[in-house]
Amino acid sequence: MENRVPAVRMSGITKTFGSVVANHDVSIEIQRGEILSLLGENGSGKTTLMNMLSGIYCPDSGQIEVDGKEVSIRSPKDALSLGIGMIHQHYKLVDVMNATQNIILGLKEDKYDLKAASGRVREICERYGFDLNPEQKVYDMTVSQKQTVEIVKVLYRKADILILDEPTAVLTPQETEKLFDVLRNMKKDNKAVIIITHKLNEVLEISDRVDILRAGEFIGSLKTSETTAQEMTDMMVGHAVALNIHRPEPKNPVPRIKVSGLTVRSEEGLLKLDDVSFTANSGEILGIAGISNSGQKELLEAISGLQPVESGDITYISPEGQATSLIGKDPLDIQRLGVALSFVPEDRLGMGLVGNMDMTDNMMLRTFRKGRGLFVDRGTPKGTAQKVKDRLEVVTPGLSTPVRRLSGGNVQKVLVGREIASAPSVLLTAYAVRGLDINSSYAIYDLMNQQKENGVAVIYVGEDLDVLLELADRILVLCGGKVSGILDGRKTNKYQVGSMMTTLGGGEAK
Ligand SMILES: Nc1ncnc2c1ncn2[C@@H]1O[C@H](COP(=O)(O)OP(=O)(O)O)[C@@H](O)[C@H]1O
Ligand SMILES: [Mg+2]
Repeated sequence: MENRVPAVRMSGITKTFGSVVANHDVSIEIQRGEILSLLGENGSGKTTLMNMLSGIYCPDSGQIEVDGKEVSIRSPKDALSLGIGMIHQHYKLVDVMNATQNIILGLKEDKYDLKAASGRVREICERYGFDLNPEQKVYDMTVSQKQTVEIVKVLYRKADILILDEPTAVLTPQETEKLFDVLRNMKKDNKAVIIITHKLNEVLEISDRVDILRAGEFIGSLKTSETTAQEMTDMMVGHAVALNIHRPEPKNPVPRIKVSGLTVRSEEGLLKLDDVSFTANSGEILGIAGISNSGQKELLEAISGLQPVESGDITYISPEGQATSLIGKDPLDIQRLGVALSFVPEDRLGMGLVGNMDMTDNMMLRTFRKGRGLFVDRGTPKGTAQKVKDRLEVVTPGLSTPVRRLSGGNVQKVLVGREIASAPSVLLTAYAVRGLDINSSYAIYDLMNQQKENGVAVIYVGEDLDVLLELADRILVLCGGKVSGILDGRKTNKYQVGSMMTTLGGGEAK
């Protein structure tokens, strides 16, 4: 068993982009009938390595063997002819076409026989346990269904070495379970499956083996049955990391934000928030869960005055007990009351930071708004910038380096740090750890807890349910712009939250 010829062997692979060494002398292999996880922090070179296997890039040096024979892979087509298919993070489907049309797109032989093609798609779905209607149009599909189309597409092309790049990032826990069932069926069918992920519990659940990359280097290969989340993290990060989020009991929580009957429409008239009511308390972290686009963004924007409200009320109650309606108020006035918003968008420079300005000036953008007359005092922002740099370990050549020259994770720390530095009484955060490495993510969780212990009402919109479940005192679940339920963070579980994300009030929980 151990001496079989591997399905794929990559040896001594190096790939550079300009001065960035994305992969350095990396060697990995995978057997048929095996599920391999490729684990590493953001930027460790996982996608690049797999892009070389799937023909997107060519290595600068190194060799690739398929079934013991050296091959040259110069295009995705070459890869597919060797049975290698990759499902990328961003799907490239044509919205107005149905599943089958997308699946056969680019294949000459099937163009005129849609029926036969649909039949084969059905066959593949049955064989591996996909839930897919071949006639459904892509614009009608959930993200998970679109992903299914992409997977069936490579299976249709007879791929038996499958690579999935962070496939669960966009899925609910239930959808992830279904995907894992499919992957297990592929394994039974003797396919080789490589799954890129940075979620440790998923590595342990789905894969036989895990290969760990750090900063472009191969660090080691472990049998998942013989390792732990702690060991994998330490290898991934390069030193020991404490992996628990502490959750202090809220001290004297009192209402800080009261939302009642809040209804918000998009510019196009679509209902984004539908009769939303809840209270956020001081000294508490209220987590907001939901599949993407369930109204999270609109909710935070409505509270901070950036989103027009159709009906309902939002009241802010100051630490002194004074109640003020925020409806119709200017965003700057809301900030001055003590409500801070830090929203980390997919493009981190798109939001609130000026790339050409340095950290100090970016801090000033925020404190300056508090308005202290005509003359700007740079002393305070500089101190703030220094504090944010020290506390969050922002890696920058200096406080005067333009923010645009910092790496993504560091830009983000500046963004979150700046809002916290403004000493708010309500802190609204969305996707605060998006793209951050493990160390920085835990630094952010610590900061959230500190804010909470200082009496701040923290509203935390997060993507990672495991984290929400450990960090939040209460979890408000949004489903299609409605409140699906508000749960006690200490008493609920992932399946309950997941089921409430897709069905109002929750459906089949596991
Ligand atoms: N096309 C590219 N051009 C320049 N740099 C790139 C390109 N693709 C990846 N990189 C760099 O290579 C490194 C590894 O990236 P990647 O393979 O995407 O990491 P991962 O998938 O592990 O997050 C990163 O520093 C990234 O910025
Ligand atoms: Mg990647």
